[in-house]
Amino acid sequence: VTIKITDRDGVMHEVLAPTDMAMNIMELVRAYELAPEGTIGICGGMAMCASCQCYVLNEVELPEMGPDEDAMLSEAFNVKPNSRLGCQIPITNDLEGLELELAPE
Ligand code: FES
Repeated sequence: VTIKITDRDGVMHEVLAPTDMAMNIMELVRAYELAPEGTIGICGGMAMCASCQCYVLNEVELPEMGPDEDAMLSEAFNVKPNSRLGCQIPITNDLEGLELELAPE
């Protein structure tokens, strides 16, 4: 699926995200090196660091927020109503056309 991700410098990247590799958005950002090493995915995708926070820019249906993600976002910085944790969003066909922006570090 194609996903648009705006990096922390404001540059938009249109990336091809594989749906058959059990990857999530945080891992996708790392795979495409859209954020410097060590600034995203610090907790390894456990919903415990918020380094993978991103803002959802369009109306694509995403999986419901789980309690761990909800709790983490209630204490993270720069949280907006459209914030999600990238590591909690698996890449599936439902994400076609999704547009995201990485939250500040
Ligand atoms: Fe730590 Fe997503 S990688 S919360």
